[in-house]
Amino acid sequence: MVKVLFVCLGNICRSPTAEGVFRRLLDRETLATRVHVDSAGTAAYHVGAPPDQRAREAALRRGIDLSAIRGRRAEPSDLETFDYVLAMDRENHANLLAIAGEHGHKVRLFMEYAPRFDEDEVPDPYYGGANGFERVLDMIEDAAEGLLAELRRAHPDLENL
Ligand code: 4NP
Repeated sequence: MVKVLFVCLGNICRSPTAEGVFRRLLDRETLATRVHVDSAGTAAYHVGAPPDQRAREAALRRGIDLSAIRGRRAEPSDLETFDYVLAMDRENHANLLAIAGEHGHKVRLFMEYAPRFDEDEVPDPYYGGANGFERVLDMIEDAAEGLLAELRRAHPDLENL
């Protein structure tokens, strides 16, 4: 089992979207039982809350249901548990490194895996319009494809894990 954690600030927009998008990709590839996926936020503002309504609606338009996800805060133990801890932006990345200790090598920017987008960061859509959520989805779908390719490369036995 490979364990992947997506992390943003609030855990109500970008990281739950990444969780839902990546989970659907794994389902399609019949890898859902081989890869454990979760999401968390570096801040505690939205602990226990469902994803932002705009994020849920945008994901649902692409057939992805985020409604079961609840916000939680990233904890130091997550850095032990997860193999890949993927930050949406540089601030999340820095905050994760600050609690990572010896596990800093697990912390990466999610957009590193995106083959089509040059940007390093998934922009925070919280204070913007609906268009921001569409762009977040486009970026995350691209990075999710690249991440799956990386998992297959790094774990040639992924199908059997
Ligand atoms: P997220 O977006 O980090 O993608 O979940 C945000 C959600 C909430 C806030 C900021 C960003 N906030 O300030 O409450």
